[in-house]
Amino acid sequence: MKKILNTIDNKRIKIFEDKVLASKEIAGEIADLIKNKNEKNEKTVLGLATGSSPIEVYKELVRLHKEEGLSFKNVITFNLDEYYPMEDEDVNSYNYSMDYHLLNHIDIDRNNIHIPSGKIHKEDIENFCYLYEQEIKKVGGIDFQILGIGRTGHLGFNEPGSERNSRTRLITLHDITKIDAASGFGGYENVPKFAITMGLETIMNARRIILMAWGKGKADIIKETLTCKISTATPASIIRLHKNATLYLDNDSASKLD
Ligand code: GLP
Repeated sequence: MKKILNTIDNKRIKIFEDKVLASKEIAGEIADLIKNKNEKNEKTVLGLATGSSPIEVYKELVRLHKEEGLSFKNVITFNLDEYYPMEDEDVNSYNYSMDYHLLNHIDIDRNNIHIPSGKIHKEDIENFCYLYEQEIKKVGGIDFQILGIGRTGHLGFNEPGSERNSRTRLITLHDITKIDAASGFGGYENVPKFAITMGLETIMNARRIILMAWGKGKADIIKETLTCKISTATPASIIRLHKNATLYLDNDSASKLD
C-alpha cells in the first residue's frame, strides 16, 4: 500500500512498501515528460545519478523503450559525478555504470550524453567543470534531476561543507563515503580520494527533482535531512528549499520518521 505524507518545507514525501513500484512511478513521470516534449519537438534534459538507488528506474526506462517504443532520440543527459582519478572502462566508474544500466540499451544519441570524466589531467579539471556548467546552460538547464543520497548526506558527491552556491568542481571524498564504496573497489585503500561533482546550485537549478532512498541503511540520514537545520553540514537538507522536489522512500528508509 502507498501512503502519501503531508508536505514538509514544500517538499513532498512518498513512502512505498516496494522500491520497484516506486521506481516504476518515477520512470513513468520521466517517460511522460519525454513524450510531451517529443510531441512539441523539444529536447528533454535529464540529470542522472549512479549508485544502486536508481537501478530499478533505469530498468523500467529500458523496458519502456524496448516494449513501448519510448524514444530517447531527443534526450540530453548530464550525470552528477564521477570518481577522480578514474578510467571510463573501469567497472567502478560511473561512465561504465551508466552504459551498463541504461545508455547502451536505449536509442540516445551518444553526443547528447554528458558524464564528468575521471581521466582528464589535473590542470584541466577547472576548465572541464566550467565547460560542463556551460553545456547545461546552453541546452536550457536540467528539466528533471534524479538523486540518491549518501550516508554523509551528500547529493552527487557534495560532501558536508559543500556550499549552497557550489558548482561543478573537484571534491575530496568523505571517509564514510569511501568506506561505503570500499567493497566495490576491493578495499578502502583502493577507493579514489576525489571526485568531480555537479554542485548544489547546479542541482537546485533543475526544474524538477526526485530524491530516492531505499533500505534501513538510509533511515538515519533521511531523518537528519528532513529534521535538521538546513545547512552545509547536511547537504541534502537543501532540497527542502526546492519548490518542485519529491522524496521517494521505502518503509525501511522512512522507518525513523515520526
Ligand atoms: C554515491 C554517489 C551518489 C549516490 C550515493 C548513494 O556516493 N555519488 O550520487 O547517491 O552514492 O549510493 P547508493 O544509491 O548506492 O546508495
